[in-house]
Order: sequence, then structure tokens, then C-alpha cells
Amino acid sequence: MTSSIGNPLIRLRDVSKCYELGARRFTALRHISLDVDHGERVAFVGKSGSGKTTLINLLTGIDSPTAGEIHVAGHAIHQMSQEELTVWRGRNVGIVFQFFQLLPTLTIVENVMLPMDFCDMFEQSQRRPRALALLRRLGIPDQADKLPADLSGGQQQRAAIARALANDPPIVVADEPTGNLDASTSDEVMSLLGSLANDGKTVLTVTHERDVDRFFTRKLTLRDGMVDGDSAGVLKVCA
Ligand SMILES: Nc1ncnc2c1ncn2[C@@H]1O[C@H](COP(=O)(O)OP(=O)(O)O)[C@@H](O)[C@H]1O
Ligand SMILES: [Mg+2]
Repeated sequence: MTSSIGNPLIRLRDVSKCYELGARRFTALRHISLDVDHGERVAFVGKSGSGKTTLINLLTGIDSPTAGEIHVAGHAIHQMSQEELTVWRGRNVGIVFQFFQLLPTLTIVENVMLPMDFCDMFEQSQRRPRALALLRRLGIPDQADKLPADLSGGQQQRAAIARALANDPPIVVADEPTGNLDASTSDEVMSLLGSLANDGKTVLTVTHERDVDRFFTRKLTLRDGMVDGDSAGVLKVCA
């Protein structure tokens, strides 16, 4: 992957997204232009329905824009086919979901190994040791051989973050990753996500206003499908 030094890691230009609802069209995102640099910790906030998930799904190539351009590390992802996007995403983006989405019949360490198997990353013999090292990094090495259902919500989300890091992607994206956790577990998970920027990751998270100053360096507020506020260059409180 070529990383273009001096250019933003992520560049959106005039991006819009419309959903077709029968004969009606609903515009979920309108003419969004924004840049995100390497190593930023960006919090997306905004009311329910403001377009946060839609925007995140465009950045990961899970969905494609109706108009506009999205470049990530110099790659024009709006021009990629579904097959190209699947390969690109597996190697470049780690995704953390609200409901963890661990496969229930695989152990925790097997869940973390999955992305390496899918993308054929790392030598086969390295995959399990690498997954175990990630579980150690996330503070749950003793949960490796359990099934997801035997872990608490916070432990499952830590495992899901380990899985997101499996292929060492430059970008980690999370959509309300603490929406299903209690307040103190939620703080631990947010802190872990924010700390990934210290390892050189760019972290993009849909979250709540109260998390912003503590765990993120930039707040992007969405409203009715538009960027209604951007603290770029203002919030720099995280270590
Ligand atoms: N697949 C879809 N089909 C039609 N409308 C959608 C679809 N996904 C989202 N929307 C609409 O787009 C708007 C933005 O949704 P979303 O991005 O999920 O907002 P948020 O994550 O901020 O709550 C909402 O009005 C929602 O109803
Ligand atoms: Mg959402």
C-alpha cells in the first residue's frame, strides 16, 4: 500500500449518499468534504439519523457514495468493485461493531485469527501467536480459549478490537462500540481505542459527546447529513 506523505490519509470530496425508498429518494449525506490525517482520533457525534453510520460505512467501503470521491491512502475507493473493496478493507481497515459480532462457535483466539486467514496475512504459523499477543495487548490473554458467550460484554468488545487489529490495518473504525456496555466498561474500551493512535493507527469512532474531550483529538458533528461542526486543530487534549 502506498502511503502518500504530506497528503491526508482520508480525503472526501463533495460526497453525497441517497437511499432509494421505492419511488422516493432520501438523501442521508449531502456534499461532505473533509480530510483526516494519519494518527488522528476522530469522534463523530450527532443526533440519531444525522448520517454517522452512513458516513462511516462509506469510509470503510461497506457502502458506496451516490456522488463524490473518497480517497484513502491514495486509493480511490469510490471507484473500486465490491471484490476489490473486500480485499482492500480486510487489509486496511479494522472494524469494531456495537454488538461485537464475534462468531459464536469459534473460540476467542480463533475469532482473532479469522481476518488473517481470510486475507492470507502473516505466515500460518505466526497467526495464533500473533492473535494471542493481541489478546495480551487488550488485557484478556486468559480468555483466549473460551467461546464468546462465556465472556462479559467488555471482554467481548476487547476481543473484537483485537480482531480489528489482526491484520495491522492503518485505520480502525468503530460505530458506537460502547453502546452496549456499562459506563465504566465503556470508558475502558474508549480509552483502549483512543490509545491505538499511539501505535500509529488512525481511529474513527461514532460516539457520545461526553467521550469526546477525554479520548479524542477531533470532533466532527453531523446534522441532517452535513458536517455541522469540526474541531480540527482545536481539540488536542489526549496524551
Ligand atoms: N439502508 C437505508 N435505506 C434507507 N434509509 C436509510 C438507510 N440507512 C440509513 N437510512 C436513513 O439515513 C439517515 C441516516 O442514517 P444513519 O447514517 O444510520 O444515521 P445515524 O447513524 O447518525 O443514526 C436516517 O434518516 C436513516 O433512516
Ligand atoms: Mg448509527
